[in-house]
Amino acid sequence: MARTSVYVCSVCGRETGSWMGQCSGCDEWGTLTEEPRRGRARESISGSDVAAEPVPLGAVLPDEAARVTVGIEEFDRVLGGGIVPGSVVLIGGSPGIGKSTLLNQALGRLAAAGRRTLYVTAEESAAQVRLRAERLGPDALRVPLLAQTDLDCVVATLEREAPDVCVIDSVQTLCASSLASCAGSVSQVREVAARILRVAKARRMAALLVGHVTKDGSLAGPRVLEHMVDAVLQFEGERERTYRLLRAQKNRFGPTNELGVFDMEEGGLVGVADASARFVEGAATSSGSCVCGAMEGSRPLLVEVQALVAPTDAVSPKRVSQGVGGNRLNLILAVLARHANLPLGRFDVFVNVVGGIEIDEPGADLAVALALASAAMDRPLSVGDGEARRPLAAFGEVGLTGELRLVANMDRRLVEIARFGLPMTILPAGGGCVDGAEACGSVAEALRAALPRSREAVAG
Ligand code: TYD
Ligand code: MG
Repeated sequence: MARTSVYVCSVCGRETGSWMGQCSGCDEWGTLTEEPRRGRARESISGSDVAAEPVPLGAVLPDEAARVTVGIEEFDRVLGGGIVPGSVVLIGGSPGIGKSTLLNQALGRLAAAGRRTLYVTAEESAAQVRLRAERLGPDALRVPLLAQTDLDCVVATLEREAPDVCVIDSVQTLCASSLASCAGSVSQVREVAARILRVAKARRMAALLVGHVTKDGSLAGPRVLEHMVDAVLQFEGERERTYRLLRAQKNRFGPTNELGVFDMEEGGLVGVADASARFVEGAATSSGSCVCGAMEGSRPLLVEVQALVAPTDAVSPKRVSQGVGGNRLNLILAVLARHANLPLGRFDVFVNVVGGIEIDEPGADLAVALALASAAMDRPLSVGDGEARRPLAAFGEVGLTGELRLVANMDRRLVEIARFGLPMTILPAGGGCVDGAEACGSVAEALRAALPRSREAVAG
């Protein structure tokens, strides 16, 4: 008798006939779950033996792809300039971060601009969605709503209503009755996404899919989902703060690494146009703090890097970093020890980028090095007296020989720093000029410039 079930990996989607502790596709442990075997008849047999005529690429007509701008600037920028008709965008984020809020606001703007929209909720009741929309204002209340968990019904409604943009909240809670497995399982999520995708492509309807994330922050469901959709956006933030960051992880129609910054307020999410101002104004002027001239996608962003260095007797001291990569931190610590006479082997080291921002570009190295040195020597980097103390700004890549290297977009970083009139900026030699700029060739030189009274501690 044929087997009635298969085992499907929840990470990579690989199927096997028998249960195994470790998936042979992606080597993850404990990810195989039993699901009913899909019927052969369901597998699409759309093969055709009629040959098709290839077209020279140069003769392909450019897609008129008029993007639909939502009118929420931070959202539009992360999307690459607006929503592309027929595209499918997956939006991930932990519960309560504000996914439904953002998407209800987005559809509200579109509806107010005369676009056809549809909000499908499979997670909350219509009354719950209305309660949120009331807080968001009259635009959000105009959005047509469908509270439905049955995929067939949702697809039929999408076909009939033909919205320009729809929201599916969420892809894990819709359920295809043709499959025996329960909602949220690998085969269900895949089926839901595939069916919505088909409608989107056929009708040039844009679909915004909400996806849940697992505890470790990755999108729940098979990775195949990320390959199926056109863009994957991640909505992040610290629950206890009101900042929310929207980031593109994948985007077929625009750049990745664009960052949108929002503030969650009483009436919904409000774009933070000047995020640098927030971070510079909030920056500490005590030891261990340095303002970093970073780049987030195409946008310069000033963030505060904080460091704490504390003596320890532990054999392997702690190295904890948030917002900068652990490998980067280890490299900077090694350079400080070897090239700046600042060995921190007997100290616990903590580094944090304020506001939950993640910087993964080498331009942050120098700010991290300076914050660490300032913390280790207990000398503030800030300049001025009393109330008038202002933080110091820095950017530049730290090389393995202790040299400071030029980084991309120096001019844009300098313009951003100049906007705040910070009294002193340390940057790699040859990197341009701004009032109070100190160009340095090496980390040791940068430390001497930033912490002049600690000359004796820092060898040349
Ligand atoms: P929600 O959009 O429901 O999150 P998600 O869909 O990602 O689970 O947002 C829920 C949180 O946002 C909730 O804790 C309340 C807060 N919130 C505000 O602070 N202001 C608002 O105007 C709204 C609608 C929600
Ligand atoms: Mg929600």
